[in-house]
Amino acid sequence: MRPLEPILMAVSTGAAARTPDRVSVQRALAREALRECAQRCGAPADGWEKDENDVPQPRAGYHWSISHKRRWVAAVVAERPVGIDIEQIVPRNEAMFEALAGEDEWTTLGERSWHAFFRLWTAKEATLKANGKGIEDFSKCRLVEVPDQETVRLIHNHREWMVQHFFHDEHVAAVTCVSSDVRWRVLDGRATLRARRLALRGSGSLIGRLHGHVADVRSEGRSRT
Ligand SMILES: CC(C)(COP(=O)(O)OP(=O)(O)OC[C@H]1O[C@@H](n2cnc3c(N)ncnc32)[C@H](O)[C@@H]1OP(=O)(O)O)[C@@H](O)C(=O)NCCC(=O)NCCS
Repeated sequence: MRPLEPILMAVSTGAAARTPDRVSVQRALAREALRECAQRCGAPADGWEKDENDVPQPRAGYHWSISHKRRWVAAVVAERPVGIDIEQIVPRNEAMFEALAGEDEWTTLGERSWHAFFRLWTAKEATLKANGKGIEDFSKCRLVEVPDQETVRLIHNHREWMVQHFFHDEHVAAVTCVSSDVRWRVLDGRATLRARRLALRGSGSLIGRLHGHVADVRSEGRSRT
């Protein structure tokens, strides 16, 4: 079985924060990360569609998922249903702990910190996305096991899901998977877009717009905040 290779791509904080259409920039960058994932696993580079409920539709036997936040976007392509989510680990309203999980789940997780909160939040979001569900299904998704610091197991609709985490730059990303062979890649977004711009020279302004909003970041493997 081939490893899962999700991608994280950085959005430059200064530029993105100043841009009125920053969400559309994040979205377009997430699509660029998706294209990279697709090419890496031999799937079609383009033509990834969603249905009327925003649920990503499989293409040529491949499934996909994206997540886009202010500083980072994430994408994954797989030969089975898959979900990905990324969040910045930053304190929110304490009441969200009760909303996210029951006492038994916090006991299983072993700590009640914001690090733990976003670990569980992203795991649930990734699992729901893999099932084509939104936040309304949160209560149907429950933590059952924490095998190690980067893995959790959840149940959704009587089916068990394994989720792998990746900690990077005060963010946590989560992806659903079937084995622990998950190879996260943090790309040099600027170089990626430069290559695309060369390939598409003269054919549109989107890549040019994106180019100004991507930080120059290069790293691979696992890291923790
Ligand atoms: C719809 C939902 C999946 C969006 O999650 P989100 O964290 O806001 O946004 P993300 O950037 O992670 O994901 C967005 C992508 O999910 C995908 N998506 C949307 N609905 C989906 C669904 N039902 N199933 C699978 N994927 C879905 C889309 O591809 C979307 O990107 P696009 O519109 O650019 O194509 C939903 O679970 C939600 O609204 N969550 C609330 C988020 C929130 O309150 N976060 C606070 C954290 S403390």
